[in-house]
Amino acid sequence: MDKFIIKGNTPLRGTVSINGAKNAAVAILPATALIKGKCRIDNIPNISDIKRCCEILELLGAKVNFITPNEVEIDSTNVEEKEIPLDLTKKFRASYYFIGALLSRFGKASVGFPGGCNFGSRPIDQHIKGFETLGATVNCEGGMIYATSENGLEGNSVYLDVVSVGATINIMLSAVLVPGVTTIENAAKEPHIVDLANFLNTMGANIKGAGTDIIKITGVEELRGNASYSIVPDQIEAGTFMIAAAASRGDVTITNCITKHLDPISAKLVEMGVNIEESEDGDEIRVWSDERTTKGNIKTLPYPGFPTDMQPQVAVLLSVSQGTSYLTEGVFDSRFQYTEELKKMGAKIRIEGKTACIEGVETLNGCQVTATDLRAGAALIIAGICADGETELYGIEHVERGYEKIAERFNSLGAKIERVSE
Ligand code: UD1
Repeated sequence: MDKFIIKGNTPLRGTVSINGAKNAAVAILPATALIKGKCRIDNIPNISDIKRCCEILELLGAKVNFITPNEVEIDSTNVEEKEIPLDLTKKFRASYYFIGALLSRFGKASVGFPGGCNFGSRPIDQHIKGFETLGATVNCEGGMIYATSENGLEGNSVYLDVVSVGATINIMLSAVLVPGVTTIENAAKEPHIVDLANFLNTMGANIKGAGTDIIKITGVEELRGNASYSIVPDQIEAGTFMIAAAASRGDVTITNCITKHLDPISAKLVEMGVNIEESEDGDEIRVWSDERTTKGNIKTLPYPGFPTDMQPQVAVLLSVSQGTSYLTEGVFDSRFQYTEELKKMGAKIRIEGKTACIEGVETLNGCQVTATDLRAGAALIIAGICADGETELYGIEHVERGYEKIAERFNSLGAKIERVSE
């Protein structure tokens, strides 16, 4: 079992470059199963969720060849419809994108239930509704999801009851090779949805409207691939470094990002007294803070709202800001488990339903804490960097599902994080 030992009180200073987006990459890799040919993808983050996606692609018969740790060539010409066991799927959320991809290419998919971070109940009813609207029959039993289409699928109109990233992506994947036109209404608009649509269109699909709440997919006969694609920079990784810069009262320039995607985060930080400067090209952002930030009231919402995946990190900043802040979760039922760990470090947080009431303290104090999920882990690293004394962080495998070389990259900005095996 590995842990991070974080020596606190280290303001972050310097420049850090952002990697490709995890949530785009974990959708684009399953999407390669749709292609009867080769494709090349770069700016892939080197994280454990990606390795797990590749294991599944290889099980299906794809040839996966990493040219560098961040660039891969995939040949899915010989992909076959095979059962993907629960052992492989339960390790990450995005495994369920193989249902959409296989259903579209073969009219059939047998895929284990997904895993991923525990934010309370995470139903997949909207994914299933989408597959059924296209004509599939879906059965869930023994930890498996079986989708079949006796008479073939046909394009149709799907209206999502909730704005769901996963359902939008899965229905988009399932419709790519299906005759006719599929429309997804009340679709999610996150940057990774646009990125997946751009990838699929580059490979020969016909998808319009991604990034708006109506996406139209006109089925094509096949995707030939033979093209290259570069994954969009990670909005959440950039946001994590922004919050770390502000909370540690440092000065960090974040490169290789898309500042437009960071607007919901920048707007809140500016309200709290953080300095922000964006490059004219919109690909760099400098974040610095000389003084203690002031309270903020934040509600997480689907894009372009404040991202739920930034909720734990911003809770750390609010914990050391002046005054009392209110942080409301507007996407998931339950995403405050990590606040128990922050409280061990001296944060004053009270949960009332979907809102955390955070009374700012002068400083946090390092102690032994455990990451309960991916973004909670990132938040606890930030807390350790800001705190007085030493923080011992367990559960770092959660963090490594989504952040490449996180300790090394924080250390390049002046943090003191050591990885220790027990
Ligand atoms: C994705 C992201 C995750 C992020 C979340 C919200 C990936 C791999 N994961 O998760 O990091 O936190 O978007 O931005 O991209 N819901 C239903 N029925 C469904 C599907 C969802 O009720 O069929 C509900 C969920 O319980 C939740 C809300 O819709 O309350 C949004 O969930 P969704 O956008 O689907 O999140 P994920 O795709 O699971």
